[in-house]
Amino acid sequence: MASYQVHEHDVLVIGAGGAGLRAAIEASAMGCSVGLVCKSLLGKAHTVMAEGGMAAAMANVDDRDSWRVHFADTMRGGQYLNNPVMAELHAKEAPARVRELEAWGAVFDRTADGRILQRNFGGHRYPRLAHVGDRTGLEMIRTLQDHGVHQGIDVFMEMTVTRLLKDGGRIAGAFGYDRELGRFRVWKARAVVLATGGIGRAYRITSNSWEYTGDGQALAYEAGAELMDMEFVQFHPTGMVWPPSVRGILVTEGVRGEGGRLLNRDGKRFMFDDIPDLYKNQVAKDPEEGWRYVTGDKGANRPPELLTRDHVARCINREVKAGRGSPHGGVFLDIAWIKDRVPGGAEHIKKKLPGMYHQFKQLANVDITSEPMEVGPTTHYCMGGVRVDGRTQMSGLVPGLFAAGEVGAGLHGANRLGGNSLSDLIVFGKIAGEHAARFAKSNGAAAVNDAEVAEEERRVLAPFERADSGEGPYKIQQDLQATMQDLVGIVRTENEMAKAMDVLTQLRRRAGAVGVAGNREYNPGWHTCVDLRNLLICSEAVARSALARPESRGAQFRDDYPSKSAECGTYNVVVRKGPDGSMQVSKAPVVPMSEEHRAIIEENK
Ligand code: FUM
Repeated sequence: MASYQVHEHDVLVIGAGGAGLRAAIEASAMGCSVGLVCKSLLGKAHTVMAEGGMAAAMANVDDRDSWRVHFADTMRGGQYLNNPVMAELHAKEAPARVRELEAWGAVFDRTADGRILQRNFGGHRYPRLAHVGDRTGLEMIRTLQDHGVHQGIDVFMEMTVTRLLKDGGRIAGAFGYDRELGRFRVWKARAVVLATGGIGRAYRITSNSWEYTGDGQALAYEAGAELMDMEFVQFHPTGMVWPPSVRGILVTEGVRGEGGRLLNRDGKRFMFDDIPDLYKNQVAKDPEEGWRYVTGDKGANRPPELLTRDHVARCINREVKAGRGSPHGGVFLDIAWIKDRVPGGAEHIKKKLPGMYHQFKQLANVDITSEPMEVGPTTHYCMGGVRVDGRTQMSGLVPGLFAAGEVGAGLHGANRLGGNSLSDLIVFGKIAGEHAARFAKSNGAAAVNDAEVAEEERRVLAPFERADSGEGPYKIQQDLQATMQDLVGIVRTENEMAKAMDVLTQLRRRAGAVGVAGNREYNPGWHTCVDLRNLLICSEAVARSALARPESRGAQFRDDYPSKSAECGTYNVVVRKGPDGSMQVSKAPVVPMSEEHRAIIEENK
């Protein structure tokens, strides 16, 4: 008798955040049977942590906005390593996806004349983020879930997928287990959509929730797909720094979008000290200009706090390193100052930023309407992921395997603009769901190979056989996070990354001999053993890709190569598993822009 339960669907979606839910809804609407597997409970995906909003050129607040400006902003933010086909699709389709969410019941904040309100965010030329206070991701998930539950989707909660199954070259399904009792499952499927999110748990300080252990990236890699742009890890400038138990938790860019100022220990607004050439003509020359922009005057200049995240994070680092930081190793973020300048005063702040108000009150005993917050950079997002076709989201090497949202690569290039993540989820979730459904309809059922399943069962259970002799998983995970944080972090050098590669080799050895006591029921130690492989694959991919890019661009800052290099701007770094099991690195030419793309960039310079 089989030691696993079998489920069968046309399309299997792994991950139930914004991208997964939107993909599942689309595939189901196209008449496919859909299974949706999530690591956590439905409704608890990391998307709910997204705060500030979703970027869409709806032009509700500034009528000069258009998909063309959004496209240009996204490409500039990504330092032109983005896939322009994806950037165009994203900019064109985001407004329709936002309106669709509204039609499905999302309750957005409103302009005075009743349209969806849009706020300012870093790198976006005009106020563009449709939002629900500072709880936009939560509203997105609530809406998609409410809509999705009526579609007949089979939901499998609290399940970990450990392997993609293949029939020859193409996808045949997935293998995994339920996290409660550890019972094995096989999902047979004609197409699989990965929507598992990011890799932030490879770092010690992160805004990412516990699920973000790079599962989708590692599953795809092991199945023979390519990962691209993995060197580009985004450090959000503002995470909480104090108390230690909450370090890394996101402090939304919405605070700066509403007028928050970054100050050093001396009360100096240090962001005025270093404004990159690319943005010199947009940024305010003095603090009052910044304030006027924040209050919404068309044509006023941007505050420097809203420069791109990589730049703001490095400026904060500079202040801290120079001894001008806050008491707990960050800087100050002050929104309280606006209360004398807006109708409603403190109530205005609470209304615009209710989540932040409660977060700081409850976790740090700070009242943000009267005191500054202490903030510092936190690992937030990985621009890299599974290399996919820009129009379909399918992997070029594993037919039937799709990826959408953070686990996919291409849209954001070297750096993502805030707010482009939530819109990415709904735009490319829909596209992936549609094309997965098409694939499932035009390809027969694939066969699951019993030997492959048996091999995976053995691999996943191996740590129990080393219960007495093996090292536990937690110290290995902790050492991995410290290595990535200290040696492959915001500022990188070849020497440090070479050292990281050595440590990763040792960590792989230790993880290969990891042991865990107890049995499969309610065993978090075992789950951590399983996560380790994924974290190690992603960490190696980040370090190797970073070494293959000897320049500073977007989210990657190399102290040994502090400038951009023209040559490096011509390729994306790609990794895949070689025939001998080692990670192979190559360079793929960036997807070229069309004449129209170039014209748009030119007109928006
Ligand atoms: O700051 C934020 O609210 C984050 C948004 C994002 O990463 O898109």
